[in-house]
Amino acid sequence: MKQFKIAIVGATGLVGRSVMKVLEERQLPIESYGLFASPKSAGTVFSISGKSYTVEELTENSFDRGFDFAIFSAGGETAKKYAPIAVAKGCIVIDNSSYFRMHDDVPLVVPEVNFEDALHHHGIIANPNCSTIQAMLPLKALDDKYHIKRVVYSTYQAVSGAGKDALYDLENIHGSVPLKKFPYPIYNNCLPQIDVFMDNGYTKEEMKMIHETRKILHKPDLKITATTVRVPVKNSHSESINVELEKNFEMEDLLYTLKSFPNLVLQNDTSSSLYPMAIHANGRDEVFVGRVRRDDSVSSGVNLWVVADNIRKGAASNAVQIMERLINNQC
Ligand code: A2P
Repeated sequence: MKQFKIAIVGATGLVGRSVMKVLEERQLPIESYGLFASPKSAGTVFSISGKSYTVEELTENSFDRGFDFAIFSAGGETAKKYAPIAVAKGCIVIDNSSYFRMHDDVPLVVPEVNFEDALHHHGIIANPNCSTIQAMLPLKALDDKYHIKRVVYSTYQAVSGAGKDALYDLENIHGSVPLKKFPYPIYNNCLPQIDVFMDNGYTKEEMKMIHETRKILHKPDLKITATTVRVPVKNSHSESINVELEKNFEMEDLLYTLKSFPNLVLQNDTSSSLYPMAIHANGRDEVFVGRVRRDDSVSSGVNLWVVADNIRKGAASNAVQIMERLINNQC
C-alpha cells in the first residue's frame, strides 16, 4: 500500500495541533510529516506517532519535498499565497481558511454530506466554517427526506474558534491586562459579533453560514438567516436551528432520520434532561442533536439544538476525514 507524505501548515495553532492529534489517532498510511508555521515558531518540536518533527518556517520552497497532501490551518492570507504553490508542486491542499471556500472551482466538503464534490477538485479542497460544518449533518438528513424550505440559525460559539489569543482573553477575568483578540471582554459576556460587519448589517460569519450552507447542500436559492454569537465557553459550538420543511413529517420518523445519519448522535430525552452540551462534545468527532420539537408556527417545521467540537469536527477532524476518504479512493 502506498505511504503518503503530509505537510501541516499552521502546525502550532489550535487547529494545527488538533490535526496532528487526529492524524495520530486515525493511523493512516503516512510515511512522514512536514510541519510549517511562521518564523517565530521555527525550531519547535512536536511528536507524532512516536516520531519527533521540527517546525520549519513556511517558505516558497517548503513543498519541494514531494508531499502528497497539505492541510492548511494558517489563515486566509497564508492560504492565498502558499496553497497555489503547494498545488503546483503536486500536493492536494485541504484548506481550513475561508479564502477559497466560495470559489467556483473549489469543492467545499463535509464528508458525510457531499464527499463526491471532493472528487472534482483542481488541487484545492476547502474545509467549511466550523459553525457550518456541524449544521450540515442534521440539515442534509432532513433535506434528503423532507426537503428543506427555510433555515434560521442562532449560534452560541466557543472562544477557541477565534484562536489562541481569544482563549487568553477568556482567562482575563479581572480585565487587568489589555485584550488580545476581542473588542470587549468575553468573560461573563456574550458578543453578538463574530468577524467584521458587512454593509447589510450581518457579520461576515453570518454570511459565511448562509453562503456555505447553500453551496454544500447544492441549494443556491435556499432561504436562510443567521445570528452568530460568541459566548464565554472554551470549546464546542452550540446552535439553535429552526428548519421549515416542504413535506409533512411524523416526529418518530424524523427522529429516526436524524439518528440514522452517519456521525450524527441523537441525544433527545427531556424526561431525563438528555440533550447535547458543549462539555460532552469536547474531544469527539460526532455531531450531537437534541431538543427536537415541532415548530407549530409553520405548517411543517422543527427546532433542533446541535452541538459539536468546533476544533475537531468543525476543523481538524473534518479536514483529516476528507484526506482519509481521498486516500481510500486512491488505494
Ligand atoms: P505561529 O504559531 O508561528 O504564529 P491560531 O489560529 O490558533 O492562532 O493559529 C494560527 C497558525 O497559523 C499558527 O500555527 C501560526 O504560526 C500560523 N501562521 C500564522 N501566520 C503565518 C504565516 N505568515 N506563515 C506561516 N504560518 C503562519
